[in-house]
Amino acid sequence: MENPDYQQDLTATIQELSIAYEELSLLYKVSGIFSSLSIDDICSRMIDEAIDTIGVRTAAILFHDEKNDHLFTKTSKGAWDIDRTFPRDQAVIWKSIESKKPSAFCRVADSQYRGYIPGIKSIMVCPILGKAKTIGAIVVADKEDDQEFFSHDSKLLMAITSQAGLAIENAFLYAELEALLVGAIKSLVKALEATSYWTAGHTERVTEYAISIGRILDLDGDTLEKLKICSLLHDIGKIATPREILNKSEELSESEWIEMKKHPGVGAEILGEMKQFKDVILGIKYHHEHWDGRKSIFGLKNEQIPLLARILSVADTFDALTSDRPYRPKRSREEAAKEIERCSGSQFDPEIVKAFLGWADLSTRQH
Ligand SMILES: [Fe+2]
Repeated sequence: MENPDYQQDLTATIQELSIAYEELSLLYKVSGIFSSLSIDDICSRMIDEAIDTIGVRTAAILFHDEKNDHLFTKTSKGAWDIDRTFPRDQAVIWKSIESKKPSAFCRVADSQYRGYIPGIKSIMVCPILGKAKTIGAIVVADKEDDQEFFSHDSKLLMAITSQAGLAIENAFLYAELEALLVGAIKSLVKALEATSYWTAGHTERVTEYAISIGRILDLDGDTLEKLKICSLLHDIGKIATPREILNKSEELSESEWIEMKKHPGVGAEILGEMKQFKDVILGIKYHHEHWDGRKSIFGLKNEQIPLLARILSVADTFDALTSDRPYRPKRSREEAAKEIERCSGSQFDPEIVKAFLGWADLSTRQH
């Protein structure tokens, strides 16, 4: 660890990753994708919207699988065969996609069209277009009042798909960026852990525990995602903690503890410029606050402490207790869980402890 080459490599890696962060951060800001919905949410909203506004019995969203050059069902409602795929020679749907215009077929007699839905009477297709490419199509069939499709129906369907096409494209971009970002974060954390003898694997385990608690608490997908990034980055501020303190094999002195306790604030500062990370930053900043506020670094207590930080605090402590330290042996999972239960209401939020114990009990039984 004292090897100057190694230190230099590490500094270079961190610098490179910081630049990558900045670029990603800018991309996030420009596309505003953090506020957009997931692909699944966009699709189910499109389906509901089509059924409500056009008054049809069946609606399906088909995505184009570029590799196999066929359409597959992403979401559907009504009498739709979700397992069916549509190769390019299937006229009705592909005609609409290739012309980039909606098409409607009423009093469907052709057996080819009837094949879509048993007893189908009318069908309308509208392509879903992104800026760069065709995403797929939305298909609606059979009006509730058994009327034909009129031109205003196709206008309505076009209005729905033109908005959704761009949103879906953004959501794809977001998913790609997120995978990149999480990858970059993991590399950064690995580089950090490599500088300390005692923290190998800590971050990954804390992330696993925090997400498990979050699932028991029934958090939504977006909050779980933030919790994941928050957990991966929670100790990033230790970059500024002197190596000799991080690697010390005896218990820390008072002044060393003061130094050590700076890491949540430093971590928040490092990420401070990433505005879209606001919740994540607050989770990191306050992950060592105490529920009753008595030993809080920033003087917060109870619900003043952000939820992500309260979860992180329990997950972080559980991993610290179940890991060996040079000045004390590790405790068993059961002993560590008891210690966390003992500190419920003082150090930890009782609700989070309840969820944690639910998970700890479950995972012990599975082991
Ligand atoms: Fe920490």
